Amino acid sequence: MSDDTTGPERGTDGTDGEENRARTDGGEERSRSEGRRAVPDGGTGVALDPWGSATVDDYRDLFEEFGIEEFESIIDEVPEPHYLMRRGVIFGHRDYGAVARALANDEPAAALSGFMPTGDPHIGHKLVFDELIYHQEQGADTYGLIADLEAHSARGMTWAEIDEHARDYLLSLLALGFDPEEGELYRQSTNRRLQDLAFELGSNARFAEFESIYGFDGETSVSHMQSVVTQMADILYPQLDEPKPTVIPVGPDQDPHVRFSRDIARKSRYFKVTEAFASPEFDAAERVLVRRAHDEREAWAEDPETPRCGDAADWLRAAEVDSEFETARAGAVEKLENAGMEPLRPRTRFLDRNASEAAFEALIEAVPGEKRVFEGHVDAFDLDRDEAEELAREVEVDNGGFGFHTPSSIYHRFMTGLTGGKMSSSIEASHISLLDDPEEGYDKVKSATTGGRETAEKQRELGGKADECPVYELYAYLLAGDDDDFAERVYEECVGGERLCGDCKEQAATLMEEFLAEHQEKRAEAEELLADLDIDLDVDGSRRGIPGDEE
Ligand code: TRP
Ligand code: SF4
Repeated sequence: MSDDTTGPERGTDGTDGEENRARTDGGEERSRSEGRRAVPDGGTGVALDPWGSATVDDYRDLFEEFGIEEFESIIDEVPEPHYLMRRGVIFGHRDYGAVARALANDEPAAALSGFMPTGDPHIGHKLVFDELIYHQEQGADTYGLIADLEAHSARGMTWAEIDEHARDYLLSLLALGFDPEEGELYRQSTNRRLQDLAFELGSNARFAEFESIYGFDGETSVSHMQSVVTQMADILYPQLDEPKPTVIPVGPDQDPHVRFSRDIARKSRYFKVTEAFASPEFDAAERVLVRRAHDEREAWAEDPETPRCGDAADWLRAAEVDSEFETARAGAVEKLENAGMEPLRPRTRFLDRNASEAAFEALIEAVPGEKRVFEGHVDAFDLDRDEAEELAREVEVDNGGFGFHTPSSIYHRFMTGLTGGKMSSSIEASHISLLDDPEEGYDKVKSATTGGRETAEKQRELGGKADECPVYELYAYLLAGDDDDFAERVYEECVGGERLCGDCKEQAATLMEEFLAEHQEKRAEAEELLADLDIDLDVDGSRRGIPGDEE
């Protein structure tokens, strides 16, 4: 298997040329390095490998390397932040602002995540279940899916195993409060609409992108590739009936999928809306300079009412600009010079990317106020950027397009294993399964590693290391629930030396035992709910796992 270790070879995240250009010239996407390749473990950076071992040593690297944004920077825009947000467990995002704003304004929004049914659902999955349920309670259309095609093709699970685990994931999600009347649950393999969408999206996915994003090569099975386009379809599925901001809550290992889906969503759009100043198309960095020229036109224009491009070129040639803008300056000056006597005048531009002739005609028709029509683009003088975006989407949808919003994501930290190191389904004592006997859960917590000192005296004197303690994590991620005071008290008492590990673990173990007992009771109740749902959990008979098709 060649696609599990060595991230992408080349520096693209599957963007079309446009995005790459935007990045090198100063970036339309704020995230300067969104397109950097995933670096394998042991390299200078971090690996983001969806099928590898999910550990992250330093979450800060993810901001630097991949352009994930800090969640902290946006939390104030979130109407009622979940405790996982308040406690920094959800640490990063892409474009979550779009979803937060929609929820705050009671506008349509969606949330979706998926689960590979490769083992029992455990307390790490509970984070994602909770994130979905939270968004559902906040008013988002919420989707939970079983990634059975992926489990079969990328992990070699048999259909019988998949059926069994799928049921367990769904029961836990329902038991924790997912409302299946309001939201939708599905499995990839039986969702025809999803697969039609995957097929459509596949025409915007190139093998070269699979190579660079996932390190796929000649040995990668076609089914594995198909499971990737299926995940792209999952991510965009909530927008099939109506485009809307959509958040994908996942671990950071899934970020390559998020980036790819964002690209595919952008590439499928009929029109691209940009800001323009004259007939030439400036790139992002050039645009910064031309905007400045326009802002300062009083200083150089013969008639500031109708500043001329040629005069702007003369001014810009001599203006002081940061050295990083030198290339942009050369480009902008040349384009302005060529435009000569043409007035420099701000406008909103609709570029025709994938529109049919009829759709482009419809757009021209729909633009209100003063407009100018060119080969391949329309300039609007009485529309601001947001209005233009909305119009572009409307016309696209009316003319048979998807009109996708670029999907957003939020990222949560991985839980530390109870035995230290990473929490792993394959290390029994490292994790607590949602199906564990309550007493077993109790015992696992009691035997967990802690951030405590060697002796009680030292602990009283120096305090415990709550930040390095898997037991404290249990409180913060799960056991304290919504009660911030409780979580804080545990923390303060620990680092202040008032809390000793024996008692602390006893308390945590008891809470865990209670949680598991209650959860399993609710799972039993959810059986009935699940039986009523239109989801086929017995596909085994109709399929054959082909021996050797797993990688
Ligand atoms: N690839 C995900 C995992 O390994 C599962 C998944 C499939 C998913 N489709 C998705 C996650 C869509 C989020 C959104 O767990
Ligand atoms: Fe961890 Fe509790 Fe010990 Fe602190 S007192 S180190 S939180 S087990």
